[in-house]
Amino acid sequence: MKPKEYSFSIEGNSVPIKANFQIKEILTNIINDLLPDQLFLMSDENVAQDYDVKRWLKDVQAPINQIILKPGEKEKSLECLSSILFSTEELGLNSQSVLIIVGGGNVGNLGGLVAGLLCRGIPFIHIPTSLVAQLDSAIGAKQSVNGHRGKNYFGLYHPPKAVLVNPLFLTTLPTSEIQSGLVEALKHGFCQSAELVDLVKRFVNCDWKMNLSMLWDILNMTISLKIEYMNIDPYESDPKQFLELGHKVGHALEQLSKGELSHGFCVAFGMVAECLFFARKGDCNKSTTEYVVEGVRTIYGSLELPMDIPEEAIAHQLLFDNKRRGDLIPFSYLQFPQKPLPASIRLTDTVLSELTYCIGQAKEQFK
Ligand SMILES: NC(=O)c1ccc[n+]([C@@H]2O[C@H](COP(=O)([O-])OP(=O)(O)OC[C@H]3O[C@@H](n4cnc5c(N)ncnc54)[C@H](O)[C@@H]3O)[C@@H](O)[C@H]2O)c1
Repeated sequence: MKPKEYSFSIEGNSVPIKANFQIKEILTNIINDLLPDQLFLMSDENVAQDYDVKRWLKDVQAPINQIILKPGEKEKSLECLSSILFSTEELGLNSQSVLIIVGGGNVGNLGGLVAGLLCRGIPFIHIPTSLVAQLDSAIGAKQSVNGHRGKNYFGLYHPPKAVLVNPLFLTTLPTSEIQSGLVEALKHGFCQSAELVDLVKRFVNCDWKMNLSMLWDILNMTISLKIEYMNIDPYESDPKQFLELGHKVGHALEQLSKGELSHGFCVAFGMVAECLFFARKGDCNKSTTEYVVEGVRTIYGSLELPMDIPEEAIAHQLLFDNKRRGDLIPFSYLQFPQKPLPASIRLTDTVLSELTYCIGQAKEQFK
């Protein structure tokens, strides 16, 4: 398990991603090169309980302030954002200060937005600690919080100075959060690599807690596939992109569950529901649907939706999708395995009732 390095470019700046089992020295060197007047460390209670990152920074001269958030999606809000911003103002953070974000995708998205807004943008370093964050959310420039209706409704693009991926963080991650991250790996596999789909399946079928080396391979394969895409579309904004596979219905469900369901579970559900929708339209065949359902089942078995959110409400929530253009929603779907295609769908009443039907069918698949 040798250290690996990746990078993506955005506006002429290269963002290094270092996958490494030893990140303390790398972190210290990056911080010292940035010559900060002070550091601001952000994490959540679960992460802070297991990891004392402040201690890692003993060789850094600058004073360190710390904020520890409550865990979960509920903190990814404008209210929490404004309270953090006012605290940093009180502390005198300025354009020479540096933010270090240690946590999953929620702390990462919120912290990235804090960094992007402070003094019109201060440098920050991502230390992702969940699988979702290590192979997906930290590898990019999108930062956001949720609105009252729409997920990721308020945000901006602000790339990190560096991303330090240490798989040892995953040893304390609950199994449900490993599953959540595996869904994003599976998404990349469905779209770009049959080999990755096989690897995810083999990993799930072995004693995965004991198999850090397979997880390391999944991480590296997924990061390199995401980077391949990021170097073409660093803003992840091309309506033809496939990274949104399952994320229309997935984000709708995630927003309505008010943080009760994990990101990965919602995307898994979304991939199934959206695939059933495109199959009914005749855009993909039965074997592709079976391929997606079987892949998702490998991770989630026969898990049911643990809460009752009506399918009609999930379909209508798509009206608050943050990538909506007028009444058109940019979906992506699998025509065949590893053949993702874009589709711009007008949310007419007929489409909404079709989606409602397919969401109901997806619920059946999950029983
Ligand atoms: N491109 C993007 O920006 C992008 C991509 C994917 C997901 N996301 C966003 O990321 C969020 C989901 O991220 P997530 O799944 O990491 O959720 P999360 O940040 O809530 O982390 C999941 C849970 O794991 C805990 N945790 C994290 N690291 C841990 C560790 N090492 N040990 C023990 N517990 C740990 C957290 O405290 C939390 O309870 C969603 O808001 C989603 O929209 C963004």
